[in-house]
Amino acid sequence: MELALDYHSARALLAWQIELGATDAIGDAPVNRYELQARLPKAAATTADAAPIKPLEIDPVAVARQMAGAAGSLAALRDALDQFEHCELKKGARNLVFADGHPGARVMVVGEAPGRDEDMAGKPFVGRAGQLLDRMLAAIGLSREDSVYIANVLPWRPPQNRDPLPAEIAMMTPFLERHIALVQPDILIAMGNISCDALLGKRGITRMRGTWHEAQGKPVMPMFHPAYLLRQPVQKRAAWADLLEVKTRLTAG
Ligand code: URA
Repeated sequence: MELALDYHSARALLAWQIELGATDAIGDAPVNRYELQARLPKAAATTADAAPIKPLEIDPVAVARQMAGAAGSLAALRDALDQFEHCELKKGARNLVFADGHPGARVMVVGEAPGRDEDMAGKPFVGRAGQLLDRMLAAIGLSREDSVYIANVLPWRPPQNRDPLPAEIAMMTPFLERHIALVQPDILIAMGNISCDALLGKRGITRMRGTWHEAQGKPVMPMFHPAYLLRQPVQKRAAWADLLEVKTRLTAG
């Protein structure tokens, strides 16, 4: 079937494919893989038809738990994520966004998921929200160079920055938990609802922010996400109060 596309539709389709990560042309002419299938030698097609193979039921959360649990270092955890093939987000992402900052830090910030800038850079919080995060941390004397470690619930960018699905959060949480266990921070900061969901099993950031919670035996401060603060600057006052809580707790012990 011939598709006649006007210039603007063709350009939009191309931009969409680039957005999904298809940045390299690997052939001059398009290949119709449905036709290739139809041209397969008969014997091969018959064998495939005759022996339907029942797909194995795989529980991605159990696989994630097993792989994360076996990782004895941050480098091993990163390798485990590289080898984890059950999260569809990985296929559309340019890079694994593992972490940034100081692995010996007392404070670990847990964000939601990489956006476009983070996906390109392979580092969390490097876009506008990340720059605001850096300024917020600096206001209480912290920096990723020497006192903060940063990771996300999801290490791959969701398409069009959509919200992570519950199944995606569930299968990536074992990796996050292992990440925390390996870094052993004194304090966790949960940025936004997705992070609260993964760490605390509940959402409701407006209600939860500003009060201490607990995850994996560690104090957790839920805070408004910096991306939300960029849209709602009036909430920066609340974020400042939460940062002061963090500073007080750090100074106390
Ligand atoms: N928002 C996040 O939650 N994490 C990032 O890394 C970037 C933006």
